[in-house]
Amino acid sequence: MERIAIIGTGNMGTAFLAGLVGSGYPKGRVTATDVRPERLAEVRAKYGVRVGRDNVAAVHAASTVVLAVKPQVMRATLEAIAPATTHRPLVISFAAGVPLAAIEQLLAPGTPVIRAMPNLPAEVGGGATAVAPGRRAGRGAVRRARTLLERVGVVVEVAEDQMDAVTGLSGTGPMYVFIIIEALADAGVRVGLHRETAMKLALQTVLGAAELVRRSGRHPIYLKDLVTSPGGTAIAALHSLERTGMRAVLMDAVQAATERSAELGKIISQRMNDAKP
Ligand SMILES: NC(=O)c1ccc[n+]([C@@H]2O[C@H](COP(=O)([O-])OP(=O)(O)OC[C@H]3O[C@@H](n4cnc5c(N)ncnc54)[C@H](OP(=O)(O)O)[C@@H]3O)[C@@H](O)[C@H]2O)c1
Repeated sequence: MERIAIIGTGNMGTAFLAGLVGSGYPKGRVTATDVRPERLAEVRAKYGVRVGRDNVAAVHAASTVVLAVKPQVMRATLEAIAPATTHRPLVISFAAGVPLAAIEQLLAPGTPVIRAMPNLPAEVGGGATAVAPGRRAGRGAVRRARTLLERVGVVVEVAEDQMDAVTGLSGTGPMYVFIIIEALADAGVRVGLHRETAMKLALQTVLGAAELVRRSGRHPIYLKDLVTSPGGTAIAALHSLERTGMRAVLMDAVQAATERSAELGKIISQRMNDAKP
């Protein structure tokens, strides 16, 4: 069992922490830090882990460090914790757009670094995380990161240059599904259902359909054919969806998020370079 330090307990750090503790990970082996005392008090009360404002002490005592601060403060955070990484803990960075090389360069020589792009459903053990190992992260380090991150969902390994695509698809992905659930509920209200009933049915339909794809192992198109009877309701709905170009709309959204991720990554890399002494 790793001794874990989670640096930054905002949206993503807390989602990871919640998923980790929810998976049965021993609370005594987790320390969470933040700059906001009120956030730390909330985290301690809710998850029962050790909390503190001292990143250096937390990193010093950790075998794995999870960096969950905003990309803008990554450089300052890395510079502050660097002297505490001489024991070479495994460092997993959630920070979007911050290159592995920039992180490696700021930490003690030989520190293994893995860049990860998780998503918010990690909170309930339903996360999708992509990992890209750095130059000093061998197979053992990747295995350790996977073992930890698999506690909060599914993990895939990609090359670092695919991280923008991952951000566009699964990093941003929960938003697409939240909108689909909300739109389906609105649609139910439009055709005469009470809001509460419509939301319950919309949510369960998304959950159930996803679970069926996952558990059956069948291609979604095979399942689509099963529910599309000749001259029936599903084919009428599908015709309407195809006319609106729904597939292209989703592809455009993923493309837009991917491109924005690349743009932001360039700005962040530039700022990290500009800040060099
Ligand atoms: N949110 C997502 O869905 C998501 C998904 C994938 C990856 N990520 C990545 O995860 C990271 C965190 O994102 P987030 O949305 O969770 O941001 P967030 O909600 O702003 O959380 C970051 C937390 O870290 C605190 N912090 C700032 N400086 C710190 C320091 N030196 N030491 C310890 N804590 C510090 C922040 O406090 P202040 O608010 O006072 O600054 C805040 O509480 C980002 O790099 C992001 O790219 C996020």
